[in-house]
Amino acid sequence: MLLRADVFSALAVTVGFGLTIHAGADVRSASSSDETSSHAVSFADQIAPILEARCSECHSAESSELGLRLDSYEGVMAGSDYGTVVEAGDPDGSLLIEMIESGDMPEDGDPVPADEIELIRTWIAEGAENN
Ligand code: HEC
Repeated sequence: MLLRADVFSALAVTVGFGLTIHAGADVRSASSSDETSSHAVSFADQIAPILEARCSECHSAESSELGLRLDSYEGVMAGSDYGTVVEAGDPDGSLLIEMIESGDMPEDGDPVPADEIELIRTWIAEGAENN
C-alpha cells in the first residue's frame, strides 16, 4: 500500500540504523533469536514523549478517558476499561495503533505524524518493553 511505503521511508530517514528487519511478523523471529536484544526504539526516550505530548491531555491521572492512562508504561500496558490497547509483538492487533492510524486519536488536534506512528509500531513489534 502506498501509505505503508511512505511511512516506511519516513522511518528509514528518522531511525536509519539497522532497522531493515522490522516489517510486520518478521521482527518477532528476528528479535527472539537476537541475543544482544538491541532494540531500535526506547519507550522512555521515544514513545513516552510522543504519548505525553499528544495523548496525556485526555489519558492521564487527571483525565483518563475510558480508564486509559498513557502517561506511564504501566498505564499503556494496563489498557482501558475495555481491555488492552497494546498487544506486545503485534502492532496490527493493537487498538492503540488502529486508533491513531484511522485518525480517531487524538480526538482533538493534529493526527500523529507517520514517522511517530512507525516508531510506536516498531516499539510494539519489538515486544513493547519498558526500555
Ligand atoms: C481530546 C481528548 C483526547 C486525546 C488528546 C486523545 N484521546 Fe484517546 N480517547 C478519548 C476519548 C473521549 C475516548 C473514548 C471515546 C472514543 O473511543 O472515541 C478515547 C479512546 C481511546 C482509545 C480506545 C480505548 C478503548 O479501549 O476503546 C484509545 C486506544 C485511545 N483513545 C488512544 C489515544 C492515543 C494513542 C492518543 C494520543 C495519540 C489519544 N488517545 C489522545 C479522548 C482523547
